[in-house]
Amino acid sequence: MIEPSPVIVRSRDLIRPYRPADLPALRRICLLTGDRGKDGTGRFSDDGILPDVFLEPYLTLAPETAWVVETDGEPVGYLVSTLDTRAFSDRWRAEWTPEYRRRHPLPEPGAEWLDRIADDAYFWLDDGFPAHLHINLLPEAQGQGAGRALMRELGLAALAAAVPGIHLVMSSENTAARAFYDRLGFSQLAVEGDAVVLGIDPRRLV
Ligand SMILES: CC(C)(COP(=O)(O)OP(=O)(O)OC[C@H]1O[C@@H](n2cnc3c(N)ncnc32)[C@H](O)[C@@H]1OP(=O)(O)O)[C@@H](O)C(=O)NCCC(=O)NCCS
Repeated sequence: MIEPSPVIVRSRDLIRPYRPADLPALRRICLLTGDRGKDGTGRFSDDGILPDVFLEPYLTLAPETAWVVETDGEPVGYLVSTLDTRAFSDRWRAEWTPEYRRRHPLPEPGAEWLDRIADDAYFWLDDGFPAHLHINLLPEAQGQGAGRALMRELGLAALAAAVPGIHLVMSSENTAARAFYDRLGFSQLAVEGDAVVLGIDPRRLV
């Protein structure tokens, strides 16, 4: 077992495991960066939708593979993930979908894909790439190595658990994020409508 040790990115920056007290700050980061890398405020009728789909279920169901980057003690970014998407999907359906529907009783107008994720726990299942992730940094925290450092944490955790591959699903419109993933060595596994599935061997991230 590799101990989660804080990693210094810049002198004022720290990468560390998630703590429950981070939740409000991380929900805000998710909203401000969650619409294909841009501010998602007002995108849907309820600003809680993006963090309720792309952040909080991961912090609830898989907190051990969530990391935070902070500057001067304030969270400015995070990576959330699961090492086992299949098991995560089952737990999402059993444990998160009821909570999601308690918070959002009605389908979200114009966002059927979000309701589909929330209700059906619809994930990319690939036994060669069982882990998946979401990574989000505030604009002021981007371009300084924090994204690469967060990915290293996930790579180490995946290697420790003998996970053979990590994937992510992203909007093909998010060209900046795509350049980041290309630079880290991800390769394209599939195209599904407007979404692209990328994958990598965790050894390439450490
Ligand atoms: C995408 C994101 C996670 C990248 O993190 P980051 O901290 O900005 O990236 P880093 O500074 O660690 O960059 C790592 C490498 O990728 C390269 N890179 C990063 N963004 C790039 C870009 N837009 N174009 C070209 N290269 C880029 C860097 O040059 C760097 O290369 P090097 O380490 O070999 O010098 C971050 O910008 C972000 O959170 N964006 C908004 C939310 C988002 O879009 N999330 C992804 C959703 S799929």
